[in-house]
Amino acid sequence: MKVICTEQSQVLASHVARALKTTVVDVKYSRFPDGEHYLQAGKTDDEMVIVGSVVDNDSLVQLMLLIDACDRATNRLVLPYMAYARQDKRFKTGEPVSSRVVARALSQGVSDVTTINIHEKEVLKSFSVPTQNLSLATDIGAYIRTLGLDNPLILAPDEGAMAFAGQVASVGGWESDHLEKTRLSGVEVRMAPRQLSAQSRSVVIVDDIISTGGTIATAAGMLYQQGAKDIYAACVHGVFTGGAYVHLMATGIRDVICSDTIERGSSRISAADQIARALRKL
Ligand code: R5P
Repeated sequence: MKVICTEQSQVLASHVARALKTTVVDVKYSRFPDGEHYLQAGKTDDEMVIVGSVVDNDSLVQLMLLIDACDRATNRLVLPYMAYARQDKRFKTGEPVSSRVVARALSQGVSDVTTINIHEKEVLKSFSVPTQNLSLATDIGAYIRTLGLDNPLILAPDEGAMAFAGQVASVGGWESDHLEKTRLSGVEVRMAPRQLSAQSRSVVIVDDIISTGGTIATAAGMLYQQGAKDIYAACVHGVFTGGAYVHLMATGIRDVICSDTIERGSSRISAADQIARALRKL
């Protein structure tokens, strides 16, 4: 077994290879003059672990090319972040089910797929090969423990993320809650924990994805107004589009933490060990 990866997942793939006690295959990535992707993989093995987060259209194409380049092997796909997973249904007439399109494309040429905190588990049904979805909730909890916060409140930005927040909180036996939006007027909205108070407490807002950071920035502003002592944000997938990281820091958030499913400077949690363990099991 050897590990191979797209350009966007080089660090994570190298850590997965180390955890699996194997090596990563060198790949030359470049482009044709017209912008088309080109790649050339080094010597592959009979069993390949292909690690590639789809973070944009380029990484999707590169991942499909990489799978094809490994077509002599049994390919096990690790898809740490799957862009398009949020368009998992037709919200309006005439829209595509984008997650299904990506899942179908990435099922070709692989024997199984491992995802991490996929936005919606239903998306897994669109793959035509066996899948497993891992969760980094306890890894995030373990990281929060290293911050040494006194009795932190773990907050989900909405009810949908409450189960995830509960799993994070269980690591330290902390309290968890979710934010609730109350419309005060046509233009004014209040966000506050549903049951607990943030007054004088350290708060960690946790979510699967931070994209624009809009949800968490608004919540943080309001929680500070409600007397929160300090606020942290932690997510699995740090998309951080449109300057989201800086936007969050400018709101007064003490730290914004993510995992390496998307490789960032703030990737303090690694999915590598969980991926290696899960590949051994499946
Ligand atoms: C939504 O359902 C996700 O779980 C996240 O809450 C969302 O993607 C965050 O988006 P943003 O950072 O743009 O507010």
